[in-house]
Amino acid sequence: MSTHSKPVFLRALDGETLATPPLWLMRQAGRYLPEYRELRAKAGSFLALCYNPELAAEVTLQPIRRFGFDAAILFSDILVVPQALGQALWFAEGEGPRLEPVADEERLRAIDGQADQDKLAPIIETVRRVRAALPRETAFIGFCGAPWTVATYMVAGRGTPDQGPAKELFTRDPDFFQRLIDRIVVSSIDYLNAQIEAGVDAVQIFDSWAGSLGPGEFERWCIAPTKRIVEGVRARHPRTRIIGFPRGAGALIPDYVTATGVDAVGLETDIDRVFARDAIQSLVPVQGHLDPLILRAGGPELEREVAAIRSVFGDKPFVFNLGHGILPDTPIAHVERLIAAVRA
Ligand code: CP3
Repeated sequence: MSTHSKPVFLRALDGETLATPPLWLMRQAGRYLPEYRELRAKAGSFLALCYNPELAAEVTLQPIRRFGFDAAILFSDILVVPQALGQALWFAEGEGPRLEPVADEERLRAIDGQADQDKLAPIIETVRRVRAALPRETAFIGFCGAPWTVATYMVAGRGTPDQGPAKELFTRDPDFFQRLIDRIVVSSIDYLNAQIEAGVDAVQIFDSWAGSLGPGEFERWCIAPTKRIVEGVRARHPRTRIIGFPRGAGALIPDYVTATGVDAVGLETDIDRVFARDAIQSLVPVQGHLDPLILRAGGPELEREVAAIRSVFGDKPFVFNLGHGILPDTPIAHVERLIAAVRA
């Protein structure tokens, strides 16, 4: 019998170096799985699925049952927080998220100071259901979007290639932008604390667009709000592990780790491995960073990459993951080969 009752994923986050790294994949519950597509069709839409605790719990558990990943991640979206703040949200089929842009004083006033946590209650109910159904050895991850990334969608009303509308707004009117960020910070703290109280073991803060900020901007709009979220969670739940994912921040990640106090950090595909090992993994456990395109392509290159990543990061605490979400047209057989290679 194992001498450990703690899931391997949490052991790695707590600083243990494991011979076989724990493994999960960003967007592991999703369109590449036929059983996901079936429940999404049953729910009628992606958002209906997010707000249906029975189906959302089932979707969260699907990749655990099929693949035995070491962690489950709550099935939801980062944009439910703006929706709880009072901003209209919808997903245009095949086009991604749409929101009513918050770009002027009137719109900002219409956004409540604090998210209506009742609107998020079905998602918290999903957390309870997943917790009750999850095997003991599987850790459970909750999440929110980082304020900067969430704000880029709130301001533009959609995904943008260069985050131009949000950058223009903070350049023209930093006080206005700060007030928007403050609302997201406060709501995200409450939302993460509710997830933790319902049973998640760790939370991840997704800052998908951190890489579009210059160094000074990064300090103000990525590091400072993230630090406030870390402090707000720690004040209530000092033992919950917090993973930061400032995607694209590269050489700014060591500063991010030190200043925010996150327990671990996700690495995007493009980061230099030797830099990441020497300057980041020397500070905290890291998670990443296989290219989702290489997973989709499969073949010997997939096995080579898995081996290369393990050999660079294997001597210190490490969680195997992708550098960004799994692509919807990834063959399931490639995921199976990845798992075999990581666990070999
Ligand atoms: O990782 C997981 O499995 C947990 C669930 C999760 C989703 N979105 C489900 C989802 C998580 C953690 C997210 C985070 C998220 N959502 C981010 C940050 C991470 C990243 O990918 O950069 C962002 C920027 C969003 C906003 C968002 N949601 C976009 C831009 C899109 C459209 C792109 C796409 O893949 O369709 C979504 C939709 C979305 N979120 C889907 C899923 C499974 C696809 C919905 C569907 O059509 O079924």
